[in-house]
Amino acid sequence: MTKQTAQLTIDGNTFALPICESTTGEKALDIRGLLRDTGCITLDSGYMNTGSCQSQITYLDGEKGILRYRGYEVADLAEHCQFIEVAYLLLTGELPTAIELAQFKNDMTKFALIHEDMIHFFDHFPPKASPMSILSTMVGTLHDFYPEMDLDEDPYGGITTTTARLLSKTRTIAAFSYKKNMGHPLAYPRPDLSYCSNFLYMMFDRPNLPYTIEPVLVSALNKLLILHADHEQNCSTSTVRLVGSAGVRLYPSISAGISALWGPLHGGASAAVMRMLEKIYADGMNYDKYIEMAKDPGNPYRLTGFGHRVYKTYDPRATIIKKTCHEVLSTLKISDPLLDIALELEERVGNDEYFQKRNLYPNVDFYSGIIYRAMGIPTNMFTVMFALGRLPGWISHWQEMNLGKDSSRIGRPRQVYSGIPTRSFVPLGERH
Ligand code: ACO
Repeated sequence: MTKQTAQLTIDGNTFALPICESTTGEKALDIRGLLRDTGCITLDSGYMNTGSCQSQITYLDGEKGILRYRGYEVADLAEHCQFIEVAYLLLTGELPTAIELAQFKNDMTKFALIHEDMIHFFDHFPPKASPMSILSTMVGTLHDFYPEMDLDEDPYGGITTTTARLLSKTRTIAAFSYKKNMGHPLAYPRPDLSYCSNFLYMMFDRPNLPYTIEPVLVSALNKLLILHADHEQNCSTSTVRLVGSAGVRLYPSISAGISALWGPLHGGASAAVMRMLEKIYADGMNYDKYIEMAKDPGNPYRLTGFGHRVYKTYDPRATIIKKTCHEVLSTLKISDPLLDIALELEERVGNDEYFQKRNLYPNVDFYSGIIYRAMGIPTNMFTVMFALGRLPGWISHWQEMNLGKDSSRIGRPRQVYSGIPTRSFVPLGERH
């Protein structure tokens, strides 16, 4: 079969570009030989139209609202799986058998504690240190406390001591960062609890104030983590791959991904949504003011929680999160005015031509904060929750990048230089 090509004409010379097809039928122009053949590079700020790798982990179609991990619909996984089952799927490519899952759960228990010397680190952050800075620092530090084994540990990646340790210990670090922020004594992980129950226990159990683990919250947390577990080449995942491509080991590569996620345009959006809803509430539910501000071309203000770089329809994750939000609030009989505001805002935005024309729908961050609030998780921990969910995705991409064909190639984008072409040097005394 002849391979399809695209023709590119530059200055009257025509070049053939191979067309590479994905397993789901999308086409990509393979420009890897472009510079060599034509002397040209491509310009694509924000990588809006650049495929940086070939990946077998996650498929998403933003036009149709499809998100699949290793071929499975995310809605099915969120409905039927435990988060660690999905982590196993992302890491190995297959859902675990009952025996494999039991073994993996055992690993989560075995590796839940962190080295006691690391605990002293928590004491030396300033009292109001951001839980994200603590998380990123501590995850990077794991590299020194648990010197990683070489890739030889398991040439196929997947579940290794290194990856299981990271998944379990990051949960402990996340909960401890909250305790540190609150000035509360640490609650050590319990071997009898599941991944999500254990996290809630470590967050909220206090001496003389034992925490009751609500099943509806465990189930909601489980769904939230699954829905955040991977999202192909977003800013933080690409950061993990790019940093890892320099030969940086797993833990510091993940630490870099955590820092990338911190940004308000990425993982920081759910906290920004809560601030926006609180502002609308404090402003006497003046929806029009915020909607008009967002529509004003002269005003950079945007309605946070609406729009997505890839989804041009309802984010499939947002559908599940909205439903879960209702379940949590009704089961726990919580009345949160922010949910009413969110629903009303969504309704008004949905009927507004500006948002309709631009395909701006609620994204994953729009309703998730209201669930976290019901759990008692403060706004400054929302991005930490996102990081906890995204961890299996980051690890899977780091492994795939390291074990892939291009593993020896450092990530190195090009640029179109826009500065002064050349100047004659002026000695210090002659400069004015
Ligand atoms: N409110 C108002 N207008 C918006 C919004 C919004 N939330 N989002 C996009 N628009 C408008 C833009 O002003 C632009 O209008 P124009 O064509 O008249 O100039 C148009 O829609 C397209 O916007 P872009 O910025 O080109 O879209 P892009 O795909 O690059 O941006 C992004 C996606 C960054 C998420 C954007 O929708 C946004 O800023 N949303 C609010 C922040 C947010 O919720 N971020 C979380 C994303 S989810 C995640 O990262 C996990």
